[in-house]
Amino acid sequence: MSLICVDSSKCIHCGLCVKACPIMILELADGQPAAVHPEHCIACGHCVAVCPRAALDHTLAPLAKQVEIAGLPSIDQETASRFMRSRRSIRAYKETRVPRELLLQLVDMARLAPTGSNTQGVSFIVVEDKKLLERAAETVFDWLEKSPLSRYFGVMIQAYREKGIDTVLRGAPHLVLALTDREFSRGRENTIFALAYLELYAPALGLGSCWAGIFEHCVFSGYEPLVNLFQLPAGKKITGAVMVGYPQYRHQRLTDRKPLDVAFL
Ligand SMILES: Cc1cc2nc3c(=O)[nH]c(=O)nc-3n(C[C@H](O)[C@H](O)[C@H](O)COP(=O)(O)O)c2cc1C
Repeated sequence: MSLICVDSSKCIHCGLCVKACPIMILELADGQPAAVHPEHCIACGHCVAVCPRAALDHTLAPLAKQVEIAGLPSIDQETASRFMRSRRSIRAYKETRVPRELLLQLVDMARLAPTGSNTQGVSFIVVEDKKLLERAAETVFDWLEKSPLSRYFGVMIQAYREKGIDTVLRGAPHLVLALTDREFSRGRENTIFALAYLELYAPALGLGSCWAGIFEHCVFSGYEPLVNLFQLPAGKKITGAVMVGYPQYRHQRLTDRKPLDVAFL
């Protein structure tokens, strides 16, 4: 089966598909697009997405799976800015568990994040088991106490040991783990985009999230008592983690940061 299929009754020979292909694998042959180097295709789907007549289909990026943008409202600048600036790290969660359907919607958005050369390759484990999360937090604190990082986290360690306050997983009812193949060189960078998408989408589902950086430090150090808790599929490694749950409170103000530092050349 060929990589692309062109409906000649619809194709207007505009060549936009050829222009949009980032790898330059398409050419117009007698006015019709043809895949001349199909083996290099990265399945980004741009050729299908730009066609003004829906004349082009693609075996790896099927037309049927692409939603038409025409008719969808576009977000104005003010709304987009408010959306981006209103995401905050959530560190206090309700006990209520998030329904699986909602968690699926959340990670399904993470799946759509951009990745280098469209390599994707990020899968997810959603930890729902409260006891497992408690054991994971305890294991991170055990590791933290012995690690050189302990001098930065002394207050947190003490609060955990003396009062049971968990500043590692924040008592979140869920932890989303991102996984990639062990040898995948782009695992971490693809994960960062995926989890950033997840974090930006969470508030629209009524959810809050917080990147689990201390947990990640422990995982990335190779601390087996932690990694072994999650029974990872063979050949996979954890490349990122984000806590998820219903926020106990809402922030009343938008994010601000250090002043912009930019130069133009
Ligand atoms: C890679 C990364 C790791 C993080 N790790 C933690 C963490 O372990 N615990 C935590 O409470 N917050 C963590 N955060 C959240 C940051 O502290 C937070 O994003 C920053 O303070 C800005 O606040 P905001 O997210 O509410 O805008 C992490 C954020 C990132 C991007």
